[in-house]
Amino acid sequence: MRMSAIALRGVTKVYDGDTPAVDGVDLDVAEGEFVVLLGPTGCGKTTILRIVAGLEAATAGSVYLDDQPVDHLPVRQRRVAMVFQEFALYPHLSVAENIAFPLRTEPSPEDAVVNARVLEAARLVGVDDLLRRRPSQLSGGQRQRVAMARAIVRRPKAFLLDEPLSNVDAAVRAELRGEIVRLTKTLGVGTLYVTHDQTEAMTMADRIAVMRRGRIEQLGTPSEIYSDPKRLFVAAFVGTPRTSLLQAAVYRRPGTEAVLDLGQQAISLPWSDPRAAVLAAHHTARITVGLRPEALRIVDAGTADALHGEVVHVEHLGNEVIVLVDIGGVPTATGVSQLELPDTPGALTEAVAEEAPGHHGVDALRETLARLVPHPHATPPPATARTPYGFYPVYEPDSQQRPPALGGTVAVRVALPAPVPRLGDTITVAVEVDRVFLFDHAGERIRLDIPREI
Ligand SMILES: Nc1ncnc2c1ncn2[C@@H]1O[C@H](COP(=O)(O)OP(=O)(O)OP(=O)(O)O)[C@@H](O)[C@H]1O
Ligand SMILES: [Mg+2]
Repeated sequence: MRMSAIALRGVTKVYDGDTPAVDGVDLDVAEGEFVVLLGPTGCGKTTILRIVAGLEAATAGSVYLDDQPVDHLPVRQRRVAMVFQEFALYPHLSVAENIAFPLRTEPSPEDAVVNARVLEAARLVGVDDLLRRRPSQLSGGQRQRVAMARAIVRRPKAFLLDEPLSNVDAAVRAELRGEIVRLTKTLGVGTLYVTHDQTEAMTMADRIAVMRRGRIEQLGTPSEIYSDPKRLFVAAFVGTPRTSLLQAAVYRRPGTEAVLDLGQQAISLPWSDPRAAVLAAHHTARITVGLRPEALRIVDAGTADALHGEVVHVEHLGNEVIVLVDIGGVPTATGVSQLELPDTPGALTEAVAEEAPGHHGVDALRETLARLVPHPHATPPPATARTPYGFYPVYEPDSQQRPPALGGTVAVRVALPAPVPRLGDTITVAVEVDRVFLFDHAGERIRLDIPREI
């Protein structure tokens, strides 16, 4: 079995009796493995690195390096290399002296040994021709390389990088991503890399830990995280353009269909489809439908069982075009960083369950819903604009004073060459149900298929 370069067991950090900044985190980074902590601001990424480095003591739990517990060890003895966003090089020292600095504090270093180690580290990051310069004579990318050389000169057992590329410009960032990964593989060390940039996480990581509020929401390879999000937050956080998240209600009409009601439009599964029965089991549940461009395809206007909407944005990306289509409905989240699922009023589900959906019960149902849910519309949309199922998407309780952000948009990809819809066009979009993500009110994935063995 491979050794764990870095292991966390039940690591928790509470500052000042408040909510935990890090909450029971378990994580293993194998030798030579590159693990990215990805998450919004304040989710505890830096705190985890500081605990691993020994700069911060965990409130509970343990850290292991090379399978040895290090909780009692001071920073210096842990032999981990750190590079932070606000790395500071000593301005009055040359590049060589900056890189050598960590070695000077070790007992009786010999100059020849120091010089050899400095050159070795400088070569690994490609700054060996800059050794005599001062930091002020370097570009941002070069400075970051020097910071990395300084971090690795002590031959660390583990590498900790906290958003090291956020202060360098875009072109250099792309170049350094590959180099950092290559460097850690050359050194064969386990790496924990912090970022809130999903592209960085996707391109660099062997595995990604998506974090939220001090916890790991999901840990997996970039492709697992992208194509099989286990929770709503992960689907919301990963994907460019952003995954469209719309409130919906589930209805069953036995013998006919199972329906995902988006309020003004619906996605229907014929009863003959085996997935319809699985969906029907959630009858009356309020859920979130996650739609990525891969699940959608522009089709002819007459196509049955498709969504319609107005093109509200067209973005040309060279080989493809991203088209944003307003399909109505209500987005579940307004922003990922504060992504919270709306509370489902407990009475809602039961009340709806009593009224079997269908054309007859609609008015009564609508009334019941209107009573239960103080929806934010000044004037309700005309009945003709609604589905026959009567679902009224609700807002997060705290946003009821604000005007509703109606207009759930979905993104559709058009591979060129192909006709590109224009702004204001009404287009028809078919949905591939297998590629739709469904999440319950707790944010857990609802699966319509029995998961395939990988
Ligand atoms: N020294 C401290 N004292 C009190 N609270 C702290 C301290 N350091 C961090 N926190 C809190 O702990 C939580 C996690 O902070 P942390 O710096 O780990 O987040 P992060 O994921 O690195 O965020 P960012 O992406 O903004 O760097 C935050 O709510 C933060 O306010
Ligand atoms: Mg941070």
